[in-house]
Amino acid sequence: MLSDLSKIKYHENILGTLGNTPLVKLNKITRGYKGHYFVKVESFNPGGSVKDRIGLEIIEDAEREGRLRPGGTIVEATSGNTGLGIAIAAAIKGYKCVFTLPDKMSQEKILLLRAFGAEVIVTPTAVPHESPESYTEVAKRIVRETPNSILANQYFNPKNPEAHYKTTGPEIWEQTGGQIDYFVCGVGTGGTITGAGKYLKEKNPNIKVVGIDPRGSALREYFYTKKFNPVLKTYKVEGIGQDWLPGTLNFDVIDDMVEATDKESFVFARRLTREEGIFVGGSAGSAVAGALKYADRMQENDVMVILLPDTGERYLSKLYNDDWMRENGFLMPDRITVRFVIQSKPRTVQTLVAVDQNTTVRDALDLFKRHDISQLPVIEKNRTVGTVIDNELMSAVLENSTILDKPVKELMEPAFPVIGMDSPIEHAIDFLKKKDSAVLIEDNHKLVGILTRYDVIEYLAR
Ligand SMILES: Cc1ncc(COP(=O)(O)O)c(C=O)c1O
Repeated sequence: MLSDLSKIKYHENILGTLGNTPLVKLNKITRGYKGHYFVKVESFNPGGSVKDRIGLEIIEDAEREGRLRPGGTIVEATSGNTGLGIAIAAAIKGYKCVFTLPDKMSQEKILLLRAFGAEVIVTPTAVPHESPESYTEVAKRIVRETPNSILANQYFNPKNPEAHYKTTGPEIWEQTGGQIDYFVCGVGTGGTITGAGKYLKEKNPNIKVVGIDPRGSALREYFYTKKFNPVLKTYKVEGIGQDWLPGTLNFDVIDDMVEATDKESFVFARRLTREEGIFVGGSAGSAVAGALKYADRMQENDVMVILLPDTGERYLSKLYNDDWMRENGFLMPDRITVRFVIQSKPRTVQTLVAVDQNTTVRDALDLFKRHDISQLPVIEKNRTVGTVIDNELMSAVLENSTILDKPVKELMEPAFPVIGMDSPIEHAIDFLKKKDSAVLIEDNHKLVGILTRYDVIEYLAR
């Protein structure tokens, strides 16, 4: 029974829940990397994506300018998410929607848009941007043919980056208390990176803004060479990359562009879901895969914020479907874990041989010889504090034999990264293909094993 409406905590309509998405720390995926990693989880928006932010902004601008009148139709070329953002606002405001979508987009997105009452026209993906069959050209034609209609025009509408300048950027600044060194974000229309990047750089020009581009897109190359590669390649990740320059993309706010392959994108999206519990789409995987390629530049106290554009529910029939992943060559047969590779090592080398900081160089050299190994983790209270390498110790002893009775802590190198026993083997390979020659394995919060480059190569060779 209502006696005081002001005591009820509610939104006037669902659009009131837009934005203010949470910032979440990454824990497992970034273990062993320097710095602090947070993700901005845009699936918390009412339509499940970052694009909800621009749908409302674009519609209200057209209303203010009198271009959109009651009973009007909103037309848009979309990879799905912008369409949904527009469809939600249009449902509340009573507009009709017509969307054109390239045929590579998931069936879930088409069904979702139709669920909101939108008309969806599917166009071919593998045609040049300027072709009359492309999704952008078909959308323009529909506007010409439909009275009282507007093109939302996300690729040129300044309201697209402006929405992110007004919301996404300030939210990130506030959520980090201004402590942000890197902002990483995929580039589709470029609206998110341009708007949020501009805001963040105005607050602190030292913040590095890093764009992620899928392999097969031409944006990264254009960023560095100012030339477009005429070869048209298709890729499977949805929502990011272009073979032309959208008007909403301002490269001036971007410091670097990093490439992510389809396989990396899908593998990382699945890892975000399975290891961090954050259910995301493929372009979120691209953002994290690209961010970690860039992570070499991070210092211990640096903060990186990575934007995750949408929810995984939209891709259940694709990247979350093992058959689809296998057919497209994105899944290793039967998901190989570290445990599987460790167990395939000969029994004698399955246990972890380690030393503590006060073990003498003499005793460490003896262990190398006895176990026929070349590196030893230095462990204190079940925590790895360093590594000793046989060659390094031997060179030091040859230079000065009194070192034989010194503790290894005086000669140790940085510790190896630690990863979980049930992590996918790709996680170990990520480290091993860079500077680390081995990774330590943890099971039930105990260090239990070591996996070297040699172990993995031997496994792969088999
Ligand atoms: C799934 C997904 N990721 C990323 C983006 C890229 O965002 P922006 O267009 O702001 O560059 C989009 C845009 O459509 C998208 O749908």
